[in-house]
Amino acid sequence: MEGINHGDKPPIIAEIPLFQRKRTDDLFASFENKYKKKPLFLARASGRVNLIGEHIDYCGYSVLPMAIEQDILMAVATNTNTELHLSNANSKFSDFVTDMTSFTIDQSRPEWHNYILCGIKGILERAGMVDTPQGMSIMVDGNVPKSAGLSSSSALVCCAGLATKHAHSLAFTKTELADICMRCEHYIGTQGGGMDQSICFLAKAGTAKHIEFNPIRAHDVSLPEGVVFVVANSCVELQKASTSHFNIRVVECRLASQILAKSKGLEWRKMRRLADVEKALGVSLSDMEEMVDQVLHPEPYTKDEVCGILSLSTDELNSESLSQNTLHVQSFKLHNRAMHVFSEANRVLKFKALCNDSSVKDPAQLLGNLMNDSHASCRDLYECSCPELDELVEICKKAGALGSRLTGAGWAGCTVSMVPNDTLQAFLKQVEDEFYAKDPNRRSKVAESLFATQPGQGAVIYQIHV
Ligand code: GLA
Repeated sequence: MEGINHGDKPPIIAEIPLFQRKRTDDLFASFENKYKKKPLFLARASGRVNLIGEHIDYCGYSVLPMAIEQDILMAVATNTNTELHLSNANSKFSDFVTDMTSFTIDQSRPEWHNYILCGIKGILERAGMVDTPQGMSIMVDGNVPKSAGLSSSSALVCCAGLATKHAHSLAFTKTELADICMRCEHYIGTQGGGMDQSICFLAKAGTAKHIEFNPIRAHDVSLPEGVVFVVANSCVELQKASTSHFNIRVVECRLASQILAKSKGLEWRKMRRLADVEKALGVSLSDMEEMVDQVLHPEPYTKDEVCGILSLSTDELNSESLSQNTLHVQSFKLHNRAMHVFSEANRVLKFKALCNDSSVKDPAQLLGNLMNDSHASCRDLYECSCPELDELVEICKKAGALGSRLTGAGWAGCTVSMVPNDTLQAFLKQVEDEFYAKDPNRRSKVAESLFATQPGQGAVIYQIHV
C-alpha cells in the first residue's frame, strides 16, 4: 500500500487493502448497477469506541477513544451537473436525490441521508462553494451497528465530508475536517461535542487517542500490554437525534455552567461550557467538584428557579440557553450533571497518565477501576444508562473484565470492557451464555454484537483503478 499524500491531510491510498476487497467489489457492482457508470474513488470512515470520558466533550473536556474496524464506505463518482444521488447497498435505506444547490436538512426525520447532507453542507460552506457545488453519485455500505453508541452517525457525516472534500479537490487537513464535521453534525439537531469526528479523522492504527478540544488536538495513548478491549451491544437502540435525552444533558450542563459562573461573579452569559468556568477561575477539577457541592443543590431546579437566579424571563432563558427540542423541559438536575462532568474529566486525565507512565508496574486494574467508576457516574449522576446496559456491565465484570462501562451517548447501545488476553475466550463464552443466549433477539445478533477490538486507522480515500 502506497500513501500518496502525507502529513496532516487524510491519506489517499493507491490500493484497497485485501481484507476489504470482497466488500468493495460488491459495492462497486451495486454502484455500476445503479448509476450505469464506474465510481471514481472510495471514501472510508470508521466508527469508534470511547474508552473513557463520556458526555464531557461538549463541556470542553478531553476524551479517550479509539477507532474500530467497522466502517462506512462510500463509492463516489462526480456528475456533470449539480445533482446529488444517494443510494445504500442495504435496501432497507431508500434512495435519495436532490440538487446540491438547494437542499434542506429535515431535523424532524433523522434519516440516513440527512447525516450525509450534513457532511456535504459543512464542507461546501467552509469552502465557500454552496452555489457552485460539484454533483455526486454515491453508493454507501456500512457495518457500524447503528444507534449503538459506536458513532455510526458521525461516521456517515465524516465520510460524506471527506468524499465532498475529495470530489471538490479541496485541501483541508484532518483537524479542519474534524472541526467542520463536528459543527455541521449540529444541522441534524443534536448538540454533540467533537469526539466522534475527531477520532474519525485523527485515529491511528495501534493506538488510542487522548483528544483535547478548542482547538482539537490528539495525542497517542499506549494501551497496557496483556489486555484487550471488548465491545458488547445491549441490543437496545436509541437514535439520539429523535429524542431530546441528549440535548437535555447539554442544556443542563450549560445552565450549571452559567449558575456556577454567576455565583462567582463571572460574566455568566459567556460561560456556556463547564470547562469555561474552570478556566476563568483558574482552579482544579477537584476544586470544581467542591464548588458544585457548595453552590448547586442536589434537588432538581425548576425552570422558574433558573430564571430567578439568572434574572431572565422564560423567553430570554429559552433563547439564551435552551435548544429547540428542550423548550418543554421544566426541571434540570444541575448538581449531579456537573458532578459527573468534573469527576469524569478527572478520570480521563488519570487514565491517560496511567497509560503513559512506564513506572507503573501493572496499571490494568487501576484503569479498570476508573472505567467502573465512570459507569457508576454515568448511571447514577448522569442517568444515561439503562437496565440492559447495567446488567451487561455486571455480567462482563463477573466474567472477568477488569473494568466495564457503557460507551457513547448511552441510554442504549454498547458497553466496553477491558479483559485480560489470556481469559478472553472464557470471557466471551460467559457473556454470550449469560446475556445473549437466553434471548432469541440477542442470540440472533451475537456475532455482530460481541467482539474484541483493536485501535483502527482514521478516515482515508482509496483510489479506484479502472
Ligand atoms: C455522542 C456525541 C459525542 C459525545 C458522546 C458522549 O457520541 O456525538 O460528541 O458527547 O455522545 O460521550
